[in-house]
Amino acid sequence: MFQMLCYSPLALDIPSIRRQFPILSQRIGAYPLVYLDNAATTQKPKTVLDAMTHFYETSNANPHRGLYPLADRATQAYEDARSRVATFIHATRPEEIVFTKSTTESINIIAKCWGRTLRAGDVIALSVLEHHSNIVPWLQLKEERGIDIAWIDADGTGRLNMETLEKILGEKHVKLLSLSALSNVLGTAPPLQDIIAMAHRAQCLVLLDAAQAVAHHPIDVRELDADFLAFSSHKLYGPTGIGVLWGRERLLDAMPPMLGGGMMIDEVDCDHFTFAEIPQRFEGGTPPVADAVGLHAAIDWLTQFPWQEIEMHERSLLTTAQNELSKIEGLSILGGTSQERSGSLSFTLDGIHPHDLAELLGQRGICVRAGHHCAQPLHRHFAAPASTRLSVALYNTEEEIFALAAAIQEILPPFR
Ligand SMILES: Cc1ncc(COP(=O)(O)O)c(C=O)c1O
Repeated sequence: MFQMLCYSPLALDIPSIRRQFPILSQRIGAYPLVYLDNAATTQKPKTVLDAMTHFYETSNANPHRGLYPLADRATQAYEDARSRVATFIHATRPEEIVFTKSTTESINIIAKCWGRTLRAGDVIALSVLEHHSNIVPWLQLKEERGIDIAWIDADGTGRLNMETLEKILGEKHVKLLSLSALSNVLGTAPPLQDIIAMAHRAQCLVLLDAAQAVAHHPIDVRELDADFLAFSSHKLYGPTGIGVLWGRERLLDAMPPMLGGGMMIDEVDCDHFTFAEIPQRFEGGTPPVADAVGLHAAIDWLTQFPWQEIEMHERSLLTTAQNELSKIEGLSILGGTSQERSGSLSFTLDGIHPHDLAELLGQRGICVRAGHHCAQPLHRHFAAPASTRLSVALYNTEEEIFALAAAIQEILPPFR
């Protein structure tokens, strides 16, 4: 579980927060835009957009290469962003932060580079709640190296079966447990600290997929005692095109690079090469410098607000959503109602396919997600091929949740 924070009586000024997001003031036809697809990607505050524009207007150059002042500024901006990410997640050193393209790429680096040490019969443990980004790289490894995957099941509320986990850890030599820190479908979080302690007792490493968790809860990799962590900037109010892989220094240091090219080498000759130290070893090619600047600005922006306020506000939105949606006949919330939910809430509705519902809501300016949300095993677990998902961010309001519920009631009659 994430650290529970005490509530302070300060209140977020949501109208003022909303004004900082230029995109939110637009209308879709006659309707105001209601953006409730934040688990897919968040909108960006002006301060992030300005920071990136400012970088391009004043400091753009290829970092770590040029010997002129502009290149120094680009290098500084890129490395400042790395340090900012390190303090944000409480990494021991900035060198433990690898900039990648996304959560997906971060997990793939672990599977493909750390995974090279695995042999046929070695076991990776995953839960049924995982996003495909945390399943497919391991299935690829299963095909390539003959590893086994042990699955942790869940109950009807989406709670992981801790007995299965204990059994797997006790009976098999599990090399790595790769787990979502917050479900992108159910909005539920497993008891992370307990699970990590359990895994470590069995000599098993833990990779946390924090793609969803990172925008909703504080993350302290040292307190969690995780071994690897992955997230994407674009779900954290930052730009697309950049993600983060954090790993313990000794683990990253023992891993070979994934991409070969510029920046990741120490020396190259016609018949051999040696690779660079971490983190450059994993950052072959020209890095996404402006995106790193944007991510830096996004972290600065988000962390100006107390986490307990963010958690309170978003939890209150989801409680309202549960209350309002539960009034709709034939609507079932995946995993049932829960006070513990954060980020996302998914549901099915008798008589209407999620795709039709999302399209009709979209015509009313309301953006929600429909489908399996890249979590097909979880949808199979709930015997639901697809669902509709709403996901909240700091700038959402109760009025938007009421607008969603009212629009569903309006859309439904012809389908019943
Ligand atoms: C839990 C989880 N993991 C991984 C991902 C993949 O993130 P990205 O597409 O930014 O790589 C997502 C995206 O929705 C997610 O929700």
